[in-house]
Amino acid sequence: MEILDLRHFSSADLRPLLEDEIQVWSRLLCWDYSGSAEMILRYVDSKILPGYAAVDRGRVFGYAFFVYEGSKGVIGDLFVANGGRLPDPHQVESQLLTHVIETLQQSPGLHRVEAQLLVHEAGVVARSFVDQGFQRHARLFMVLPLADSTPSVSVHSDIEIRPWAEQDYQSAAAVITTAYRSHVDSQINDQYRSLSGSLRFLNNIVRFPGCGTFDPESSFVAVHKRARTLIGLILCSRVRHDVGHVTQVCVLPENRGQGIGEALLARAAGNLRQRKFTMLSLTVTEANKRAVDLYLRLGFDTKRVFDAFVWEG
Ligand SMILES: CC(C)(COP(=O)(O)OP(=O)(O)OC[C@H]1O[C@@H](n2cnc3c(N)ncnc32)[C@H](O)[C@@H]1OP(=O)(O)O)[C@@H](O)C(=O)NCCC(=O)NCCS
Repeated sequence: MEILDLRHFSSADLRPLLEDEIQVWSRLLCWDYSGSAEMILRYVDSKILPGYAAVDRGRVFGYAFFVYEGSKGVIGDLFVANGGRLPDPHQVESQLLTHVIETLQQSPGLHRVEAQLLVHEAGVVARSFVDQGFQRHARLFMVLPLADSTPSVSVHSDIEIRPWAEQDYQSAAAVITTAYRSHVDSQINDQYRSLSGSLRFLNNIVRFPGCGTFDPESSFVAVHKRARTLIGLILCSRVRHDVGHVTQVCVLPENRGQGIGEALLARAAGNLRQRKFTMLSLTVTEANKRAVDLYLRLGFDTKRVFDAFVWEG
């Protein structure tokens, strides 16, 4: 078994592995990973995707890649096939991660590395990160079956909940930045810490298919009618033909505890149910107790626990 630079390979070498990965995402997360897989394969062919491949007797059976975003590195994926006469997958995962982490930590000008590995159960790959000085945050992957009808939730008459519109971009970024000030999630994702970062986050969610396909119909904003200002929002993506995923939900601190978060979730779930979606999923940091309690109360169940890792050099 060898670990080699990913740029030595083409999409034809990686395709069978990614087909396995698509099955795993479908089984564990009810997520159709084929769009992301095609995007990764295109990047592999263009030879611009930094990463490593695990190769056994000429066959690629594992890979990990990362991307640079300014002075930050983000580990995009880690996947190792299992079975037959292949080497122990956990050992290969940690070898791939060691290569990726060393490369990133030695990259000139790089001050931060982030990783969230959804298909890896919490703890399984933690050792490679923690040994290299990463902080670890447990995150929950939660799901809500959309079979029963959601009771509609009313909010104060000063507040209107209306569908997301393209013109909400700037104000949504401002709400995100304020909502996550001193919040554990802005330790995990530093984009939340500034307006320009929140705009980049929104751009990634709304315009790129990395986290499913943005679904404007099930995305809503809460507006204060008199002040005409945005005070909260929920954004959803389609991650399978019948599964929605909340990519963002937040309410300004001064407007919390009035049922706005609950009403936004109910509107998104109601819209998806009407359109015959069968499930809504989301991820939340375990330490974000207020949000976790709200999701549990609304009927979400924890399907998996995974880790987010952060290194600041
Ligand atoms: C999570 C979040 C979106 C919840 O929004 P919210 O508008 O405060 O949510 P709700 O008001 O619907 O429910 C939250 C609490 O208020 C209570 N509540 C609901 N209606 C209320 C009312 N009319 N008066 C007083 N309290 C009320 C709920 O019972 C609930 O109680 P709890 O804190 O004991 O769980 C909000 O806290 C937030 O933006 N947090 C920062 C960003 C974040 O963590 N987002 C989630 C990432 S996964």
